Amino acid sequence: MAEFTKVEEPYTSKDGVRLVWQGIDEDDSDVVILGKDELDSLLEILSKEKTGKVELEDEFSSILVNSDVSQFRLKDERYLEADTKLLREKLLEYMKIPHEVQSIDVKSNEFYPTSEKSSESKKVESKKQSLLSAILGSQEKKISESEYFRIISTRRSTRKFDKSHLVEDWKVDKILAAADTAPSAGNFQGFEVFYIKNKKIKQALVEAANRQPYVDAPIVLVFCMNPSRVKMDFPPETLSKFSLQDATLAAAYAQLAASALELSSIWIGMLDEEKVKKILGTDLQPSSILCIGYPDKRRPPKSRRKLRDLIHVLES
Ligand SMILES: Cc1cc2nc3c(=O)[nH]c(=O)nc-3n(C[C@H](O)[C@H](O)[C@H](O)COP(=O)(O)O)c2cc1C
Repeated sequence: MAEFTKVEEPYTSKDGVRLVWQGIDEDDSDVVILGKDELDSLLEILSKEKTGKVELEDEFSSILVNSDVSQFRLKDERYLEADTKLLREKLLEYMKIPHEVQSIDVKSNEFYPTSEKSSESKKVESKKQSLLSAILGSQEKKISESEYFRIISTRRSTRKFDKSHLVEDWKVDKILAAADTAPSAGNFQGFEVFYIKNKKIKQALVEAANRQPYVDAPIVLVFCMNPSRVKMDFPPETLSKFSLQDATLAAAYAQLAASALELSSIWIGMLDEEKVKKILGTDLQPSSILCIGYPDKRRPPKSRRKLRDLIHVLES
């Protein structure tokens, strides 16, 4: 059974926490996300070393805090336990530590999300948030889960951007944060993203990408493999393959995030790796360039082959 191990900041919402259980296997891990009110109720019980029950907002789940073990009775017949002492320690410790976002120090070759440049009051408000959750949870217009299928089914690549329509910084922040949420081999994130703002570098990339002019797009992201981050005991070829997959997935997540934000993009795979490395001043192998902006006009999605031609079902 998985063991309760840590408390983390919640993704996508401003308040609350994620309680993490870790099993032997990565897939055995489990998470319970508590909203602000649920967290407050749990803290009330734990901080006073009392016993009690917290009803969760789904109106089905509950946490029973006993003096030794706390029982999490969750939806879908999920059941988890946590050592009450450990839960108390971790939660109280977490609440004390200010999870402050980094201060702003703009250097041309680094990415500092706009949400960091918010006013003093906003900074105080986001004290307990990680940078990632601050970005993903920012802005009024949030995309609901039910929108996901509309977004993937209407996405269409664009090679003509409306350059008069500037891409808002907060949208770029969300796209980059989305790349950070992609799964990766062993969660080592074997990739890096180069966010190209410099006009001359964009022009050089056009040249390195088989002279495809649309590489000079409003937003240009170069996804590179970084196998040295993948600390797994496998042959170099495997680590290299993992980092290619990591970089590709991250780019795909960024591409979908762009669509969700009413932007369009073009994926560039046709590039001269050595030229791109030289332009970026890196030894890391580029996997793709993602060019993003507002499209000059909205186009319908391209058709695909028939689903039944694509899917090969193997039964017994
Ligand atoms: C691995 C890969 C490499 C690609 N390379 C290029 C490229 O170098 N230049 C380009 O114009 N489009 C490139 N594309 C974009 C595809 O042409 C485009 O996604 C495809 O035609 C389907 O259109 P859609 O994205 O609108 O559905 C690439 C896409 C992928 C996934």
